Amino acid sequence: MRKLVYLFTIILFVSCKNSEDVVSSVAAERGVIAEKAIVVSARKEASAIGLSILQKGGNAFDAMIATKMALAVSYPFAGNLGGGGFMVYRTANGETGALDYREKAPLLSSKNMYLDEDGNVLPQKSRLGAMAVGVPGTVAGIFETHERFGSMPIAKILEPVIQLAEKGFVITEKQQRNFIKYRQLFFEANQDTILFARTYAEGDTLKNPALAKTLKRLVKNGRAEFYEGETGEKMVNYLQEKGGILSMEDLEEYHTHWRDPVNVKFKNLNIISMPPPSSGGIVLGQILKMIEDFPLDEYGHNSLKTIQVLTEAERRAYADRSFYLGDPDYVDIPVDSLLSSGYLDRRMNTFSFEKATPSSSLEHGKIPGYESDETTHFSIVDQYGNAIAVTTTLNGAYGSKLYVEELGFFLNNEMDDFSSKPGFPNMFGLIGAEANAIAPGKKMLSSMTPTIIEKNGEFWMSVGSPGGSTIITSVLQTILNVSEFDMTMQQAVNAPRFHHQWLPDEILFEPSAFSEEILGSLRKKGYNINEGESTIIGKVDAILKLPDGRYEGGADRRGDDAAVGF
Ligand code: GLY
Repeated sequence: MRKLVYLFTIILFVSCKNSEDVVSSVAAERGVIAEKAIVVSARKEASAIGLSILQKGGNAFDAMIATKMALAVSYPFAGNLGGGGFMVYRTANGETGALDYREKAPLLSSKNMYLDEDGNVLPQKSRLGAMAVGVPGTVAGIFETHERFGSMPIAKILEPVIQLAEKGFVITEKQQRNFIKYRQLFFEANQDTILFARTYAEGDTLKNPALAKTLKRLVKNGRAEFYEGETGEKMVNYLQEKGGILSMEDLEEYHTHWRDPVNVKFKNLNIISMPPPSSGGIVLGQILKMIEDFPLDEYGHNSLKTIQVLTEAERRAYADRSFYLGDPDYVDIPVDSLLSSGYLDRRMNTFSFEKATPSSSLEHGKIPGYESDETTHFSIVDQYGNAIAVTTTLNGAYGSKLYVEELGFFLNNEMDDFSSKPGFPNMFGLIGAEANAIAPGKKMLSSMTPTIIEKNGEFWMSVGSPGGSTIITSVLQTILNVSEFDMTMQQAVNAPRFHHQWLPDEILFEPSAFSEEILGSLRKKGYNINEGESTIIGKVDAILKLPDGRYEGGADRRGDDAAVGF
């Protein structure tokens, strides 16, 4: 049973939830309400640490660093030092921007590195173990954020995180299940047992003193500790011992990028989202513009017509994603054309309510003159009016499963987000082309969609999700649930979701959440239905500014997520 604790006078608001919550009970639901500031993340420890930084006078960027590192301690499934991510921000004075701290391909990587001598893809090689690891960007990302926007010393920001690593966190039921599920893969990747492969019971406290020591060295030596110092050297030595190609040179050459966000108008909303090397902002923008003229509110939430319109727009946008999008430092991306109304109207010309457009009959759109991929999200709004949306990833659950015991963290398998071979699907079933081919130093295409939305020129929502290819459509449906279907933030996050990504040509539905009547009608119109047994589509954490100026946090019922505020 969901517990919502409204403690307006003693400042802290905590939402706890469990997976038995049923969708039909969502009707009157409201998330945690906060007067001034709020943090929503995948773990209550991380949200509480982020909030404690705000309570000490820190800003959203200080809290971003603390929350992110606390997720690395308490949510090793996706929280990380050995991965990367993206941040979209909007400051109190309305300035917006985006930080790209995505991983990149090692200098010794090559286009065909995941093919055997017959040209066949070796999928495990880009997913498990040392060859799957891209150059991590997370530590560079937090120091870059601190340098530009931080207001508290890094030692003060990381103090509660180091304490969490030393004192430990309580293992939840979901975590315990995951440790068992991945134990064999941990062994295969490391050829040894690791901290997370030991036998734990739900409710045990897990301490990570090695990670606490790594964090202390980061406090002492800064960014250089990871990219030039002891931590980097130990990580590279471990990777090379396990057959990897990542070198100190790769670490020394790693840079973050401040980028201009994708800006898209949707009705009275200004959508500010992540540009390439994430596909998130462009694909979200394309879908929103393709559906803008359809009266979804009249059709109804998750009605037949709404599902059709969204599916067909998603199909077309993901086809474009696969052809046009990659690292903007390596490929020219026709961003303006891809987001132009004329082009998107033409893309929807072939849509009919009568029957599905088969993906086999649909390619990427033609743009004249053009020549020519588990994760966690958190949102924060501080008491000063700054807002951030951060999505960060190791890619698969626990990344490559490679764990540097001495340093206390997992390494990503982000290399699988590249296209190993044109037309061959990655772990999310996404197809890529030349634009997302592997090249030394290149960043792999992402679907992460950290997004901030303005309404009438003011902050309105911060939203994002994990879920690989389903990130974009989860963010899309959460926005529409509030803007078109008048849901609260919590309802919007909890509502059942569906997903289409061009190929495979099927609509993926969360199980037991859509009526047989709707599914049957879709089948009759030619849609292929996949109601995966245990499918979770996204795990959205979001913040909505309410008309009275307070904030509502939506922490996804699908995880151990928690919103806290004051
Ligand atoms: N690793 C998932 C993504 O970036 O899309």
